[in-house]
Amino acid sequence: MLEDGHGREVTQVRVSLTDRCNFDCVYCHNEGLGDTRGPMDARDHEMETDDVVRFLEVAREFDVEAVKFTGGEPMLRGDLEEIIRRTPDGMAVSMTTNGTFLPGRAPDLVDAGLERVNISQDALDREAFAEITQSGAYERVIEGVEAALSAGLDPVKLNMVVFEPTAGYVPEMVDHVARNDGLRLQLIEYMPELVGRPEWAIDIERVHDWLAQRADRVESREMHDRTRYWVRAENGDGEGMVEIVDPVENTDFCDNCHRVRVTHDGKLKGCLNRTDDLRSMGEMTSDEIRETFRETAANRVPYYGEYLVRNEAGEWVVNEEYVEREPLAADDD
Ligand code: 5AD
Repeated sequence: MLEDGHGREVTQVRVSLTDRCNFDCVYCHNEGLGDTRGPMDARDHEMETDDVVRFLEVAREFDVEAVKFTGGEPMLRGDLEEIIRRTPDGMAVSMTTNGTFLPGRAPDLVDAGLERVNISQDALDREAFAEITQSGAYERVIEGVEAALSAGLDPVKLNMVVFEPTAGYVPEMVDHVARNDGLRLQLIEYMPELVGRPEWAIDIERVHDWLAQRADRVESREMHDRTRYWVRAENGDGEGMVEIVDPVENTDFCDNCHRVRVTHDGKLKGCLNRTDDLRSMGEMTSDEIRETFRETAANRVPYYGEYLVRNEAGEWVVNEEYVEREPLAADDD
């Protein structure tokens, strides 16, 4: 297993298969790259099927245990089933999707070897959903969740980004997963780092406190890298699990990060929040991928606490060690 200088092993990879998406979520950081492009836009050097598979084979050589496919919207790729089918044995396969293409296609994905799915569902309210995702696909997403459950994916995790526009919907989403078997909820703290709307952020501690009150049982960080809350439905009918994912300014979160990312165009990325650590896998021969993967893994550093450190005023600033040197002044000759 590959390890960085901070003792963090790389156990998982997260592979973006496209940066196209049929939604345009207002909060989207596009896997740490910025703007997501619409579905009709031309592809921008998306990795070929064989390149994705070759990368996964190398990752497996280094004992990577799990892959999560993401986008953009990964289901916009027609070869997704093939990629999943060709994922090396021993790697658990999951996917993050907006859910709109799951009806009709979920069984094929499960057949190919998909084990788990995260579906983005930021509100149970049609209008709020439309505003956040810039889409009219609310019903389609609900059908997608149903399709995932019917295809045998268990649990189905709903991803809800918690920020100003959605914070008011947290209680009903929590009740929703408690009432419905097979669903779990991931409350994801809004990450403003690459989106640039810090005023949307809410204090995630308030959500922790509210859930701690609401929950029957809490499992805390010592056992998992995320706090888990077990919540009973308001009408008493069922219990569900809610996790909070709170990476912002969280040094514990970064210390527990075991993930390397791959961009849709085949670059390795050691940290979601950084765009200065991208390494191209070259022409994607297995040797080039191996070498680049080793380098990326070795050069990973915790974002909060190492890449960013607090200055005397308590603000996060880039650690001197990682500040690029100014280019030397050009000679006048
Ligand atoms: N903050 C938090 N989570 C985000 N996601 C995308 N952008 C952000 C952001 N700015 C997550 C959501 C979505 C998944 C694809 O990426 O959880 O479900």
